[in-house]
Amino acid sequence: MKRLNSQLQHDGAPLELVLLIRTLLAACKEISFRVSQGALAGVLGSTLSENVQGETQKKLDVISNQILKDILSESGYVKAISSEEEESVVPCSPNGNYLVSFDPLDGSSNTEINSLIGTIFSIAHAPQWMEADDPSAFLQPGTQMVAAGYVLYGPSTMLAMTTGRGTHLYTLDKTHGGFLLTHPNVKIPVQTSEFSINTSNQRHWQEPIQSYVSELLAGSEGPREKDYNMRWVAAMVGDVHRVLCRGGIFMYPFDKRNPQMPGKLRLLYEANPMAFLVEQAGGLASTGSGRIMDVMPEEIHQRVPVIIGSKEEVENCVARFK
Ligand code: F6P
Ligand code: MN
Repeated sequence: MKRLNSQLQHDGAPLELVLLIRTLLAACKEISFRVSQGALAGVLGSTLSENVQGETQKKLDVISNQILKDILSESGYVKAISSEEEESVVPCSPNGNYLVSFDPLDGSSNTEINSLIGTIFSIAHAPQWMEADDPSAFLQPGTQMVAAGYVLYGPSTMLAMTTGRGTHLYTLDKTHGGFLLTHPNVKIPVQTSEFSINTSNQRHWQEPIQSYVSELLAGSEGPREKDYNMRWVAAMVGDVHRVLCRGGIFMYPFDKRNPQMPGKLRLLYEANPMAFLVEQAGGLASTGSGRIMDVMPEEIHQRVPVIIGSKEEVENCVARFK
């Protein structure tokens, strides 16, 4: 089976980018190990603090963030990082050529129930002019990403990666510590009968999502004339992984709970990397009013609505916003 290195070379990734990705994945392998230790290592449960987003930090959020931060800042390849768990950008090497954004442990409340969690990341070029502590360099649209992916800590530890030449899935072979290419060039089916949305928020949704989901729920008796199934992992990384494996539509739309918050998911280290992976697998990724990867970020923790997955289903949903 092909190794990650040779697939990256095949896809034309420059050597320094390959080395950066390998460094980042070394951190993810350590996170994978720490996560798997669970209660044995006393790493479960919450800290007493909140992150900048007002979310209670799990111990594993803090541990995962620290592992990534330490390894990336010592690598020499990275000028600065932005993380869900850091209020401001973290300056690394003044001569680093890349910017890395990450969600160290997506879906971390699932650690309490030994369910799916993962690390999501995106990589962009660091502009020459930037100072390492300048957040404005991170305010590039997703179309500028040179690589993106996630590592899913599930029954197997899996990597989904794209450098803009298709989306590939790899499985970590723990006998030698390498990621092996198990699902090359995945393609999301254009049609689906599976959807994913937190329906407990239904009363807060806007009209387009109300009408779309009610058609899905009407099943074979409704206008769509087929029955749909629903799945919700409560970790974006798990839900998007399912979409990459067998299709589906995943939504975390804008809702009216807090008009200051244009959605729940963060653009830089959740929506954009997933959008890149899904588009490279033939799917679509929209906010409802446009392509996610075209959104010009205004701040590093910006949130966006997310409608992502099988092409025809996303088109059907998004058409209602016009
Ligand atoms: O990181 C935010 C996140 O945990 C996503 O991974 C997940 O899709 C979503 O929030 C879950 O939201 P809710 O709490 O509404 O189920
Ligand atoms: Mn997250």
